[in-house]
Amino acid sequence: MARHRSIETRHYAERDALFRGLQGLDRRAFLKVSLAAAGAALASGARFHPHSFVPVSVADAAGGPVEPFTFAYISDSHLYKRELNDRFVRQLLRAVDDVNALDPQPDFVLFGGDLAQLGQPEELELGSQILKDLKAPVRMMVGEHDWYLDLGEKWRALFGQETYSFDHKGVHFVVLQSVNEKDFWTARGMTPKERMQTVAGLDNGVQSRFEVGEPQREWLKQDLAKVPATTPLIVFSHSPLYKYYKPWNFWTEDADEVQAILKRFPRVTVIHGHTHQMLTNRVGNIHFHGMLSTAWPWPYAPEGLPKLTIQMNRPDPFNPNDGCGDGSASVAAAGLVDTVYNLWNRNPIQVSAAYVGSGDTNAAPPRPTLTSF
Ligand SMILES: [Fe+2]
Ligand SMILES: [Fe+2]
Repeated sequence: MARHRSIETRHYAERDALFRGLQGLDRRAFLKVSLAAAGAALASGARFHPHSFVPVSVADAAGGPVEPFTFAYISDSHLYKRELNDRFVRQLLRAVDDVNALDPQPDFVLFGGDLAQLGQPEELELGSQILKDLKAPVRMMVGEHDWYLDLGEKWRALFGQETYSFDHKGVHFVVLQSVNEKDFWTARGMTPKERMQTVAGLDNGVQSRFEVGEPQREWLKQDLAKVPATTPLIVFSHSPLYKYYKPWNFWTEDADEVQAILKRFPRVTVIHGHTHQMLTNRVGNIHFHGMLSTAWPWPYAPEGLPKLTIQMNRPDPFNPNDGCGDGSASVAAAGLVDTVYNLWNRNPIQVSAAYVGSGDTNAAPPRPTLTSF
């Protein structure tokens, strides 16, 4: 009689095959292994869902300065070295699969920072290699976990300058390095590793808060000086460019100064990583959308949650993928952004420009049915 193999046994056999393939992670080896895993799933009669969300089409067809388009995002993968943690590797691979399955493909993919957990060269190289499997072009942003071991040296060698701007289909995009801190390490005689470990904590008391900083604010002023106010702006920053709960590093110290630089533009959207949760805010002319993490969800801060935020449902503590995900953003003709949260294992949620612009009277996303945290 044939030996019975439970679903778990088969799952672990497939998983082991996948990870044997990942030991020598290169593009060809990975494709071979993942195709084999997909074939095994089909042969076993499992229903195979290549992806679980579709970018929402843009409602605003009234015309405007922008040719409507979509970009996808993946953020906060927090990769350790492969031999220490394979779960975060798998979760980043899952996000890459999600985005590659989008049809039509997004114009580009924003990576929102914290590619690595402790800024180590091996972690950043592993992330860089996995992101090479994305079909669409990738725009990179840096996070504090990528930065504080060598103050950006390895990240720059892999991805180029951390602060830059570009124009796409009528939108001016700006990418900032918003995780600068005042030097707390030299006087304390800390090693680079100690500095990195300190910044990696959510609420370590020796740090100053994150800031964009004076030199970069000057750069931003110069960069925007040549952009007409009628041009929609989209700013990518790792930390939210507002002040959200000072005891944790969710707070951006010079947020008011940065917002003042953006004030001249009636249509500004900030897309940020770092907070690992559905997070929505509006300050005057600026709409803010936080991105999901592929690694873990942070709890909401005990105070200071922006009024427009509709919290995501409490993640299942027994499901390490829950509360994580990736997403996309549809840019309408007027230049405002509808964001889709592709929460793994749950229905996708759209947070639209109509909702943010109305101050929560229109098009509100669904409220959570469980308390978040
Ligand atoms: Fe993060
Ligand atoms: Fe971060």
